[in-house]
Amino acid sequence: MSTQKILLEAKNLSRHYLVAQGWGKPKAVLRALDGVSFALTPGKTLAVAGESGCGKSTLARQITMIEAPSGGELWMDGANIAHAGRAERKRIRPLVQMVFQNPYASLNPRKTVGSLLEEPLVINTHLSKAERAEKARAMMDRVGLRAEHYARYPHMFSGGQRQRIAIARALMLNPKVIVADEPVSALDVSIQAQVLNLLMDIQQSSGVAYLFISHNLAVVEHIADELLVMYLGKAVEYGDERKIFNRPLHPYTQALLASTPRINPELRQQKIAVRGEQPSPLAPPPGCAFSNRCPHAVERCRQEIPVLQESDGRRVACHRVEEIN
Ligand SMILES: Nc1ncnc2c1ncn2[C@@H]1O[C@H](COP(=O)(O)OP(=O)(O)OP(=O)(O)O)[C@@H](O)[C@H]1O
Ligand SMILES: [Mg+2]
Repeated sequence: MSTQKILLEAKNLSRHYLVAQGWGKPKAVLRALDGVSFALTPGKTLAVAGESGCGKSTLARQITMIEAPSGGELWMDGANIAHAGRAERKRIRPLVQMVFQNPYASLNPRKTVGSLLEEPLVINTHLSKAERAEKARAMMDRVGLRAEHYARYPHMFSGGQRQRIAIARALMLNPKVIVADEPVSALDVSIQAQVLNLLMDIQQSSGVAYLFISHNLAVVEHIADELLVMYLGKAVEYGDERKIFNRPLHPYTQALLASTPRINPELRQQKIAVRGEQPSPLAPPPGCAFSNRCPHAVERCRQEIPVLQESDGRRVACHRVEEIN
């Protein structure tokens, strides 16, 4: 997408699950992630948005190597980690770290802040105990935690402070990419902006790239450089965040943005919230997966799967993109 150095690139990435349909029935294929391509560049944030079940967390699990993709390529640091051997995966894994939605569940309650932060160093480095403690304390300072918090346990902190601990832990190995799956949606609204600003400060000073998952488009507008809008496992619109927010071209993106309260009232659109039910991911409509809910769908949309194509400076997967905009 840009001429900048690419840190991580997904090409046609897929993850399919076999799901039981009930006794005596064959298993069905659920295409949770179905041929998604994008690139992450240093110091930039790619936001991933879309309704529940569109495959955002599935995407996160592939990028963080928690699962292995069923198809496509995932390039990081010169290797295709979708097919890399054990040694290569071990080398690359520390470069991509994750921050989860729920800071209450993601931190081991039996460990102090100090040991939570030092654990990645114990596993991945040969630093001495004193060196590890020094790094942990420096990181605490960087994320706005006080020195006396070093020996405390997670339950002694508020949600926002716990998320600071989780962010500090994710940073301990100097990752090139951080995947954040709804990192502020479990927090009080008053705390959300503080944590988002911390993430942006860290990005400015370290050049880390974020893959930032959020269903909250007001948050996306605040933090993202690029936006990937997904629907039932596929990308429907992908490109510069400003361009998409100012003039969404895919009917699904238009509906999503119309149902989001906007900071700038001039950009507010006619209200056309996404109508109808999301189809079962086990039986998406043939053709365009959005066709049964799309106000512009014609016969072609119900028969032919649209591919992502360049349109007005971003990519859109819609047969009728030129006619309807
Ligand atoms: N391990 C699994 N086995 C079978 N199906 C799965 C599995 N994990 C996810 N799915 C299915 O894949 C689809 C995508 O799920 P995913 O959790 O990635 O969505 P999401 O966009 O993160 O949703 P949310 O916004 O609710 O977090 C859903 O239909 C889900 O039921
Ligand atoms: Mg999810």
